[in-house]
Amino acid sequence: MNQEESYFKGPPHPYWIASTEQTGYPVLDEDVSVDVAIIGGGISGITCAYLLKKEGMRVAVIEADRIAQGTTGHTTAKVTSQHNLIYNKIKTQISSEVAKQYADANETAIRAIQKIIEENQIDCDFIAQNAYVYTEREGYIQKIADEARTAAELGIKASFTEDTKLPFPVKAAVCFENQAQFHIRKYLLPLAKTIPGDGSHIFEQSRVVDIDDENTQYVVKTVQQKTVRAEKLILCSHYPIYNKAGLYFSRIYPDRSYVMAFTAKEAYPGGMYITAEEPGRSLRFQPYEGGELIFAAGEHHKTGQGVDTSQHYKNLARFAHESFTVEDILYRWSTQDCMTLDGLPYTGHFLESTPNMYLATGYGKWGMTNSMASAMIIKDLITKGESPWHDAYNPARKTISASAKTFVVENLNVANNLVSGKLAALPDNVEISKGEAKVFDIDGDRVGAYRDEQGTLHIVDTTCTHLGCELNWNSAEKSWDCPCHGSRFTYEGEIIDEPTVKPLKTGKEQID
Ligand code: FES
Repeated sequence: MNQEESYFKGPPHPYWIASTEQTGYPVLDEDVSVDVAIIGGGISGITCAYLLKKEGMRVAVIEADRIAQGTTGHTTAKVTSQHNLIYNKIKTQISSEVAKQYADANETAIRAIQKIIEENQIDCDFIAQNAYVYTEREGYIQKIADEARTAAELGIKASFTEDTKLPFPVKAAVCFENQAQFHIRKYLLPLAKTIPGDGSHIFEQSRVVDIDDENTQYVVKTVQQKTVRAEKLILCSHYPIYNKAGLYFSRIYPDRSYVMAFTAKEAYPGGMYITAEEPGRSLRFQPYEGGELIFAAGEHHKTGQGVDTSQHYKNLARFAHESFTVEDILYRWSTQDCMTLDGLPYTGHFLESTPNMYLATGYGKWGMTNSMASAMIIKDLITKGESPWHDAYNPARKTISASAKTFVVENLNVANNLVSGKLAALPDNVEISKGEAKVFDIDGDRVGAYRDEQGTLHIVDTTCTHLGCELNWNSAEKSWDCPCHGSRFTYEGEIIDEPTVKPLKTGKEQID
């Protein structure tokens, strides 16, 4: 075991999930009817359900696994309108009006979250913080200055500085005041408790396998062959699972990143930080058992396209040791985000031709405020037919053509994976050690095999059950990951991340 590997104790596990109770909402075991069906029990789905129930609607949240456990349970939980250097980019590449809408939506979202916490008396470690994007490179100073000026013009309390409290010097930083951090599950689980009752529901372990449109109702069918009928449907499953229209899989690409939580000898200086440049590095703290944890995050890469994924944790550990006197690395986890072509979310009507089907996705790693803003947009569209932030978030926005170059690059990348996976040279040696995975050929089919620590060999068909790309092994998380649209599977073939709704075909297990 090398020095970096010895930093880690046990497999990846998010602090948020380790420090809260598991939920136990019922499985959908009978057909139900509601006003609004919401697919996905992350922060978007729960917040939509909360806002719509307050408007007097009957809602049903339908979650494939457990609520607040997927992407939501793997966040860094920064409640901030500072989404790296985004405002000057929107202003110059799209328009000042769209930049203003995005700033207003995310600043309003911070205050809306704060109001929900106060109204429901939720104890969730909500702490006001300044947020900084910083650079250690000369070449980024002008970009930082431009962002500070543009954000201030848009009404954000933003300023340029060369001083931060970080334990290393920076060349420049843009500071946003009145931002915040919290414990995502301490916030969301009490909020979820307000939803069931008076004709509303949360269903867990009820994976949606089909969506039909019958007359004026959507019929959502789960793996248990039970249905939820509703006039309105909201897709909050992170990556949209509805493929019959919209071609969203050609407009979103999944990107993974990594988080590490450690204790240090020195006190954390306060503030939330992220680098402007690559490699991305982000820092915040979290109150922890009378002391504090420090979170270091970053190391992003496209899903299924990392080289040796365990290297990303080692790189973060090195950054932590270079920046602080690390005592213990207690937790580490990774997450997956949906990235859009112009960097703005897709929230609103799923299509212009589906006035009762709504979508919220593509938060580009900034899900805390974007989920709140998205829930407010969808609530407004349902109750008033319009939203003040519609232009910035509308999935059918015309301005997206400004990103055509990125669109082509991303899709070429996906197309390469559709083809090259099938043509990959396959190893003829199938010896597999404990903890190792290999891909090999059986009768012309590409097959993946992982041998667990007990010696059991787990064999899966490595063709993704979404649209047929070839999966790659993720050594850090021991999962099979799809480079095309981000579906992920356990080594036993079970679904970890959508958009797929079908597990992998598995081979006969063999035991040494
Ligand atoms: Fe679309 Fe795998 S996620 S092909």
